[in-house]
Amino acid sequence: MSDSLLRRKTIVPEQQEGHGLARTLSWPHLIALGVGAIVGTGILTLIGVGADKAGPAVILSFAVAGLICACAALAYAEMATMIPASGSAYTYSYVVIGELIAWIVGWSLILEYSLVVSAVAVGWSGYAAPLLQAWAGVPMALMQGPELGGIVNLPAIAIIAIVAGMLLYGTRESATVNAILVVVKIIALAVFVALALPAFDAANLEPFSPYGFAKHMAPDGVERGVMAAAAIIFFAFYGFDAIATAAEETKNPDRDLKIGIVGSMVICVLIYVAVAVAAVGAISYSRFANSPEPLALILRELGQPGAAKYLALSAVIALPTVILAFFFGQSRIFFTMARDGLLPSGLAKLSARGTPVRITIFTAIVVAILAGFIPLDELAALANAGTLAAFTAVSVCMLVMRRRAPDAPRTFRTPMPWVVGGIAVLGCIYLFLSLPAKTQIWFGIWNVAGLGVYFAYARRNAIAD
Ligand code: ALA
Repeated sequence: MSDSLLRRKTIVPEQQEGHGLARTLSWPHLIALGVGAIVGTGILTLIGVGADKAGPAVILSFAVAGLICACAALAYAEMATMIPASGSAYTYSYVVIGELIAWIVGWSLILEYSLVVSAVAVGWSGYAAPLLQAWAGVPMALMQGPELGGIVNLPAIAIIAIVAGMLLYGTRESATVNAILVVVKIIALAVFVALALPAFDAANLEPFSPYGFAKHMAPDGVERGVMAAAAIIFFAFYGFDAIATAAEETKNPDRDLKIGIVGSMVICVLIYVAVAVAAVGAISYSRFANSPEPLALILRELGQPGAAKYLALSAVIALPTVILAFFFGQSRIFFTMARDGLLPSGLAKLSARGTPVRITIFTAIVVAILAGFIPLDELAALANAGTLAAFTAVSVCMLVMRRRAPDAPRTFRTPMPWVVGGIAVLGCIYLFLSLPAKTQIWFGIWNVAGLGVYFAYARRNAIAD
């Protein structure tokens, strides 16, 4: 069929026999899922990578990435309430734009969710390793990947195995555990701000922007600038999209998705601004740039070793919520794409507990291998590339629907849609261009492979309606 590349899904997918997901979640679960997914390695660890690229102006990088992400979140909320079906950006693109773009978006989401799981596992290991070394004598060589001089990052692999086990145990239980751990994480960040902010010294902000605004190659061979940092820091802001992938498991999607997405995004932006200002003002950024546990290091430098340990322990206990949320989202994207025939349907088979077992185990193996050997900043940058592609598509979908069906019912309407949607689309493209060149090349390779799968398998097996 010549038009199949533009074939659109005409209806929200019907739940197929044996493929239905149970409706067990409501908005408090979704806010917990959102904050649980958003606050993680970005603020706890990548703040150091960002400071290395932008200097104290990493505060500005947070503001830029946060603004773009907030605009995309508004578009997401509108689309999620218009099309409350699992699959998020992938499904919206299928309904609004067409099959080929939907495939590219779905393929990008698989990259995003998988690599976030790996990246956060490595970030988790950064905080866990010093504790494991001190308390259990585990050698550092077994807790860091080869780029940092180690052999393999075993704690990162172990935490992925544990979270995969939790997911196999069932959504409901996992979401409740998640809610408790979110509280642990927020209290730890509040303690950090309370201890670091009184040490604020304006001298630490001088010079404010040593590497300028746009991404450029610095003489030492590292890509730097406020935007280069923003393209990495962007990692810290997303996660609310994991909520949208839970749409089919939500009791009252119209109300709950809107509250979940916008609410969790607002909470996180406020927390980040406070943490970033406290961190950069407390000590010179060069002392924590590129540390595997920058916030703990800052507290130690401020003479608070007990608080540093408390923060590290909280991160160790709570970061798995991020892994959980993205793992959850990943298996649902696979589930939805398989249900649409674009991926083999055997992957979508659910266990008696309503969990897609095969895909959860398959994902666990792949992301564990990546986490064992690849450095955090590279994982995060490539995850960002996938996310930016998805966010661009969602924002375009929102604008297309405003034009195509301006009066269709929407329980959430993005304010000033053309301004907000425009900032989201152009901002995501600018962030993508600010990623390291190596990341852009890997993203291209991933998509070429994806198109190969599409033309060899997915296109022929698609069940569009
Ligand atoms: N926003 C999530 C984090 O920072 C992915 O860990």
